[in-house]
Amino acid sequence: MSKLFTPVTLRELEIRNRIVMPPMCQYSAATDGMANDWHLIHYVTRAVGGAGLIIMEATAVEPRGRISDYDLGIWSDEHIPMLKRITDNVHSHGAKIGLQIAHAGRKSGARGSVPVAPSAIAFDEEYATPEELTADGIEKIVAAFAEAAKRARRAGFDLVEVHAAHGYLLNEFLSPVTNRRTDGYGGPPANRARLLKEVIAAVREEWPEKRPLSVRISAVDHIPGGMELDDTIGIVDALKDEGVDIWHVSSGGIAPVGPGRVFPGYQVPYSSALKERLGVKTIAVGCIKGAELAEEIVANHRADMVALGRELLRNPYWPLAAARSLGVKVEWPKQYERAEE
Ligand SMILES: Cc1cc2nc3c(=O)[nH]c(=O)nc-3n(C[C@H](O)[C@H](O)[C@H](O)COP(=O)(O)O)c2cc1C
Repeated sequence: MSKLFTPVTLRELEIRNRIVMPPMCQYSAATDGMANDWHLIHYVTRAVGGAGLIIMEATAVEPRGRISDYDLGIWSDEHIPMLKRITDNVHSHGAKIGLQIAHAGRKSGARGSVPVAPSAIAFDEEYATPEELTADGIEKIVAAFAEAAKRARRAGFDLVEVHAAHGYLLNEFLSPVTNRRTDGYGGPPANRARLLKEVIAAVREEWPEKRPLSVRISAVDHIPGGMELDDTIGIVDALKDEGVDIWHVSSGGIAPVGPGRVFPGYQVPYSSALKERLGVKTIAVGCIKGAELAEEIVANHRADMVALGRELLRNPYWPLAAARSLGVKVEWPKQYERAEE
């Protein structure tokens, strides 16, 4: 019996298998943040291909929170109809769909605005020096995340994921590398986690009780003086009862350095540690390619779900192919049934 193809339930959301398409920016929106036919085809193809949960790319809660001018946005009601078309079509192919709500912080490359961050430190010489957020500015960011969640609900998403990884705004508050504040949002871990805690609470207010909330984190910063696994475990422990249903465990992005050696499943130990130490639900991600590795991760309780990013870009039908190679009977789109033989 395959664990990978066993349904999983988060709150009242039942997902047909444990395969997640993680958020991946398409940089294909118009400069108004609007989704278009590319996004429709791209996401619906993965639903046809058998993914359980598709988490749509980083979608900015305000214009200066975009990584590029071509990111999706959800700062206005006008963004809702096309997103609703995508969620409806994904649903009609049996997959569930989440939206990653995001703010790029100091890593914003959107033109025409000054980026904001916990402290006025640039990512590197290519990026603008950000403005340090004031208390009032922080309040507005929290409100923007809440508004985004409200719109995501109206657009028919099954899950929202708060992006607190990869060196973007919420991660910048969490990490001592980027947060040098001396007020209640800086200093000890509880203060650095305060903005994320406020965002989770505000999103939960707007997000239906029945639907799950995910938070994506970078478990380690990969630089001396940055977040280590134990620091992250402390933060997740403090936030785990705040209404988060699943933790999407990635790493890095806070500074212009790589993770070092990258190999299949290299981030899975962070997910296992969170599960073992805190009993939380997790999604593992990072260089997971083969069906057997994906199966092993969930069967050995190293994660509750597995996300395959570039693999699903290479092959949208990866889940159907994986089921076939593991000898699992799943429902194929009826038009493709003869390919299952
Ligand atoms: C083209 C591309 C865009 C990405 N955009 C996002 C994003 O919007 N949000 C995010 O959290 N991670 C983003 N990522 C990271 C992926 O979600 C994933 O964590 C990463 O690709 C590692 O998984 P993989 O080895 O299976 O590809 C992106 C990755 C790629 C390749």
